Amino acid sequence: MAAAAVAAVLAALGGGLWLAARRLAGARARGLHGAEESALMRGKTVLITGANSGLGRATAAALLRSGARVIMGCRDRERAQEAAGQLRRELRQAGEPGPEGPGELVVKELDLASLRSVRAFCQEEEPRLDVLINNAGIFQCPYMKTEDGFEMQFGVNHLGHFLLTNLLLGLLKSSAPSRIVVVSSKLYKYGDINFEDLNSEQSYNKSFCYSRSKLANILFTRELARRLEGTNVTVNVLHPGIVRTNLGRYINIPLLVKPLFNLISWAFFKTPIEGAQTSIYLASSPEVEGVSGKYFGDCKEEELLPKAMDESVARKLWDISEVMVGILK
Ligand SMILES: NC(=O)c1ccc[n+]([C@@H]2O[C@H](COP(=O)([O-])OP(=O)(O)OC[C@H]3O[C@@H](n4cnc5c(N)ncnc54)[C@H](OP(=O)(O)O)[C@@H]3O)[C@@H](O)[C@H]2O)c1
Ligand SMILES: *[C@@H]1O[C@H](CO)[C@@H](O)[C@H](O)[C@H]1NC(C)=O
Ligand SMILES: *[C@@H]1O[C@H](CO)[C@@H](O)[C@H](O)[C@H]1NC(C)=O
Repeated sequence: MAAAAVAAVLAALGGGLWLAARRLAGARARGLHGAEESALMRGKTVLITGANSGLGRATAAALLRSGARVIMGCRDRERAQEAAGQLRRELRQAGEPGPEGPGELVVKELDLASLRSVRAFCQEEEPRLDVLINNAGIFQCPYMKTEDGFEMQFGVNHLGHFLLTNLLLGLLKSSAPSRIVVVSSKLYKYGDINFEDLNSEQSYNKSFCYSRSKLANILFTRELARRLEGTNVTVNVLHPGIVRTNLGRYINIPLLVKPLFNLISWAFFKTPIEGAQTSIYLASSPEVEGVSGKYFGDCKEEELLPKAMDESVARKLWDISEVMVGILK
């Protein structure tokens, strides 16, 4: 009896140690410098949507450290200012800026659930834009509509970014070579573009709608890459893996299961800076200069399911998106 209890305690301890070791080893293996070469992005302007939290915030921190002027496009000015203040403090504490110091951080209001907000954002003059990172996202929320009546996940994750990118294309072209980075998810596999009910008025399935919006991100990237051939503006899409962020805010985990969930996510999920590596890579690495229309995970190209490579669906989605956001020429 006593032996069994001792064995159980030892097993629990061993398990805990193993988890901790895995966590630490993982952090080191995945490389936590993030800053890469310290002046790689000097003189470049990067716009990151949803930069006040999770992956966007971690991406902003790294690119700032490599010298970029980072515009944080955020829906909530207060949350964004707070995140910006924290990033500046962290940078000062790290005390490692190169000879010319770190880049610059600018907060701008951008609500992707409002076409009006997207248009207003794009009217503010910027002399150049070298990298656009479509990162903001909303995950499995209850049925909601954007200001313009779109199903929220399709509206924010796809349509808002569709309009934003289109309105910024002129500036990206005049700043070429320039890059667009789109943050999708492996969950695209469970989605479909059901053209007959894009606003989910007939039925709403929150998992399906998230997956649909992330499939739309990939189809958008591939169609845009086709349209941008020969312009020196590239566009690539990525999945970050499973990352511990605020994305799960709408998922209810029963109180009793929470500690277990926290333990598992601590041990097995990536940290935001680990999850952001592919975004940082696609935004800044010379290795992907000229690469366009590709899907990446862990800083490597990955294969897509046929449904994400369907050119006729990609074109049809593009045409319908133009009508939905009102930029039909
Ligand atoms: N975490 C993962 O495991 C995972 C896996 C696959 C893909 N992704 C993708 O990674 C991206 C970043 O997510 P995250 O994990 O970093 O989650 P997060 O911590 O929740 O960050 C999401 C960001 O998007 C912003 N956002 C939401 N709705 C917006 C709107 N209407 N207008 C402007 N910004 C809006 C949020 O702003 P507020 O703070 O104001 O809400 C926040 O800044 C998303 O596209 C997500 O689909 C994440
Ligand atoms: C909702 O969608 C997901 C993913 O597409 C699917 O696996 C699930 O069966 C759907 N749920 C219902 C109730 O239809
Ligand atoms: C693209 O970049 C190449 C190499 O820098 C340059 O020769 C070419 O003129 C550029 N094309 C456009 C359309 O800007």
